[in-house]
Amino acid sequence: MKDVIIFAIETSCDETSMALVKNGQEVLAMTVLSQMDTHANFGGVVPEIASRMHTENITMVLEDILNQYDFKIQDVDAIAVTYAPGLLGSLLVGVEFAKVLSLVYNKPLIAVNHTMGHIFANQIDNNMTYPLLSLIVSGGHTDLVLMKSPYDIEILGSTIDDAAGEVYDKVARVLGLPYPGGPNIDKLAKHGENTYTLPTPMKDSTYQFSFSGLKSAVINLVHNEEQRGNQIRKNDLACSFQEAVIDELKRKVELALKNIGVKEMILAGGVSANVKLRETLKNLCDKYNVNFHVPPFQYCTDNAAMIGAAAYPLYQKKIFSNFDLNAESSINIQKYIEQLRNQDET
Ligand code: KG4
Ligand code: ZN
Repeated sequence: MKDVIIFAIETSCDETSMALVKNGQEVLAMTVLSQMDTHANFGGVVPEIASRMHTENITMVLEDILNQYDFKIQDVDAIAVTYAPGLLGSLLVGVEFAKVLSLVYNKPLIAVNHTMGHIFANQIDNNMTYPLLSLIVSGGHTDLVLMKSPYDIEILGSTIDDAAGEVYDKVARVLGLPYPGGPNIDKLAKHGENTYTLPTPMKDSTYQFSFSGLKSAVINLVHNEEQRGNQIRKNDLACSFQEAVIDELKRKVELALKNIGVKEMILAGGVSANVKLRETLKNLCDKYNVNFHVPPFQYCTDNAAMIGAAAYPLYQKKIFSNFDLNAESSINIQKYIEQLRNQDET
């Protein structure tokens, strides 16, 4: 079979990234230019600045990847781009850039869903085994999904309020830690102990998640201690908070592993860089005799390689986009899968 080389672009948030991916699995080259340091000055991503920086950086990123690996855009099989969900202005930069490349080099254009990208990061240098359970935990998402084949997806449950990564970032802010909060809380937690009592988010037996109660509990605790003039034991609070988040995720995953027969469990999204979460879910999967897979760290946070991986099954089904492709800031993943199914049947 002929190799399929996809050139992928990702600009949904604050990383401008491009990658060259072979057969949806092998990353031939990748460039990620992060704006993190700029946004750290504001305590979070500023959408207007993000889109402007993507515009400034995108041609440099292209130049960089062209220098990194000996290839020409005219030799690739398709151009893939993240079109949703994310920051609208940021997504538009990537979408318009991809359209121009597709037009100039006469290559098929593949619109990729960012969440699907996080899932397919697990296909890089690996073969996902179906049916599988996937936990997607990022700054914008907390979803537990059942996958029967590459794009045959059933959402079992999602967060009913904040996403796990979002809560990490907000709690970090209250503790005076820089953005992005996740890795910084993770670092402190390693030196702390679970000594603060925090509420268990959802004691029910659905697959839904909730984190806003936990977030409010931490914020209130910090404010109350400050008002009383007490010192916060930041390491311990970071550890207690992290344990509570991981506990909530673990409980819902365990419920699914008990109720649904799967061969594999995969972890996806920025929060999957969390070592404690990776260890906890690995041990849980061992208990249920289920394979556990998580992408290498560089493919956990936003990158274009995962977009190239997610584009490959769409390329095989010839699900291509026209130049009227538009960016969408939010999208219901179940609706998206139904749309794809309809496109596949026509
Ligand atoms: O997937 P991602 O890069 O962007 C979105 O699509 O949202 O995820 C970013 C999120 C941020 O909230 C960040 O704080 C969190 O992932 N994160 C972590 C860790 N590394 C990144 N959260 C917990 N522990 C980490 N080590
Ligand atoms: Zn992401």
